[in-house]
Amino acid sequence: MKRRSFLSYFGLGWLVAFLPSLIAACTPGNQQNQTPATNGDRANNTATAETAENPQESETEAPANGNGFQAVGTLAALDAEGRLAATINETPIIVVRHPDNPEQLFASNATCPHRECEVEWQTEAQQFSCPCHGSEFAFDGAVLEGPAREPLATYETKVEGEEVLVKVS
Ligand code: FES
Repeated sequence: MKRRSFLSYFGLGWLVAFLPSLIAACTPGNQQNQTPATNGDRANNTATAETAENPQESETEAPANGNGFQAVGTLAALDAEGRLAATINETPIIVVRHPDNPEQLFASNATCPHRECEVEWQTEAQQFSCPCHGSEFAFDGAVLEGPAREPLATYETKVEGEEVLVKVS
């Protein structure tokens, strides 16, 4: 074999033998797979997976009681402040007493049905008012004054001991 032929075959053989390894080494996805994960990476991946599986767990809300009721405060706080305000499943809730029958509680969605501003409870007037366009609502969410045409959404309430619970369904 001539020297030139030998060098050609040797060069071609080298190329065939090492080309797949070179391509694999230069592939970006392959490099990531070979990088060992740090403890922080593993923790982040685990947290992400848990968050994706249970998105509600990351929220700081009152834990659900049986039957979907959630505690929103105590009767003492209701009486001291004139209303209880809480957020359940990202829904702002305001609980008030019936003006003529204080044993009866009403839980309303504080989102104004007109343009979704958050209504405020006026303890002296015993009604909700919307700061955006002036709609007014009764203690039970009924429209007293427009421009809102729809009442506030209301929810079931109950009292267990001193706790006030609301079920947002
Ligand atoms: Fe409440 Fe318009 S958003 S009155």
